[in-house]
Amino acid sequence: MIQFPKDFYWGAATSSYQVEGNNTNADWWSWEKEAGKEKSGPACRHYEFYENDFDIVKSLNHNAHRLSIEWSRVEPREGEFSQEAIQHYINVIMTLRVRGIEPMVTLHHFTNPIWFSESDGWLNPLCVKRFLRYCDVVTKALARHVHFWYTINEPSVYFSHAYLWGIWPPQAKSFFKMKAVHDNLNDAHVEAYRLIHKIYQEINIARPMVSIAHHMQAIVGCDQGLRNHWAVAMREYLYNLEIPNYLVKHKTLDFIGVNYYSRHLVDVHSWWIGNLLMEICKDNHHPLKKNFLGWDIYPEGLTQVLLSLKKYNLPVIISENGICTTDDNERWEYIQAHLKSVHLAMEQGVNVTGYLYWSLMDNFEWAHGYSPRFGLIDVDYNTQQRTIRESAKKFANVCQTGILEA
Ligand code: FCB
Repeated sequence: MIQFPKDFYWGAATSSYQVEGNNTNADWWSWEKEAGKEKSGPACRHYEFYENDFDIVKSLNHNAHRLSIEWSRVEPREGEFSQEAIQHYINVIMTLRVRGIEPMVTLHHFTNPIWFSESDGWLNPLCVKRFLRYCDVVTKALARHVHFWYTINEPSVYFSHAYLWGIWPPQAKSFFKMKAVHDNLNDAHVEAYRLIHKIYQEINIARPMVSIAHHMQAIVGCDQGLRNHWAVAMREYLYNLEIPNYLVKHKTLDFIGVNYYSRHLVDVHSWWIGNLLMEICKDNHHPLKKNFLGWDIYPEGLTQVLLSLKKYNLPVIISENGICTTDDNERWEYIQAHLKSVHLAMEQGVNVTGYLYWSLMDNFEWAHGYSPRFGLIDVDYNTQQRTIRESAKKFANVCQTGILEA
């Protein structure tokens, strides 16, 4: 039996574009069409059904919920803010509050307004200023009801997918563009952090908790050879720790949000820098069970990444962790195994204060469309019928008692 602390945050996470539906002013909306991808369309119609969805959240004993604000709804045209959208998000937050659920709010979760992307997105020298103008409006509207903020979701996933691999909009494939966006996102966080704190101070409310949601993988070498050893060390620094190092140095993290899914298995066959930084094992060494998208299931890696954060001496919230699968037993096994890993890290001194499963319900998984099923709740996209999965009920017991029967 494993006992988590009484005041632990338990819940699930979503993002606006993936669940709300009809985000017609977002860059992903136009890109899906241009790139011939599966369309997000009405998604889970969470923009309309959020009250009902939060009734389910409450029934599942969650005491926290992570969601994101859709910038393209709040500011559909540059400098024009939609009162309707702002009021909607105030209602959303209040709907959580009256149910006793702590809202955790992300300001940027992969999507941008079309006007922003059309003027060079995160490469434009004005991008940080533009982002801050939006953050200012949203923070002022929500400050009295929100304590936890994530400025940017997974900066490293965003800049690599969108600007290096070219598989997300705007489909750039350039190291230099990626580097510029990396720098701009770091600046955006630092400035947004300071802005949010300033607003709370001005209206005289308790200091907020502000972070990013940082994507971390367990980086593991296929063997202990010198090349793999070096490659693991370099990637551990560049992929996992470089961003938190920078943000901690600038004193702009009140906690660390960690998104953890999988293992990154390193097997390098040449000393060329490209191989050292990117080559992964293709020989099926150390095979593991995989999720529906082929990502390795590696629960012990979560202990590993959490221990690597211990040096920062900050609270940590698991802001995403989950599995896409058609076998719900597998989902429960995944949750259990990862919670055990979280607890092991806590026993070794990592101050983990919350765990949010990805995701509350099945939703639009970006370039993969609707087939991956990550949800605690099954969504029938034809009828919008929600069905609570067995794994959700088992997780609900843990949320209620803080006890995991091992
Ligand atoms: C993370 C994203 C989230 C979701 C999960 C599966 O990288 O933050 O939106 O797509 O992966």
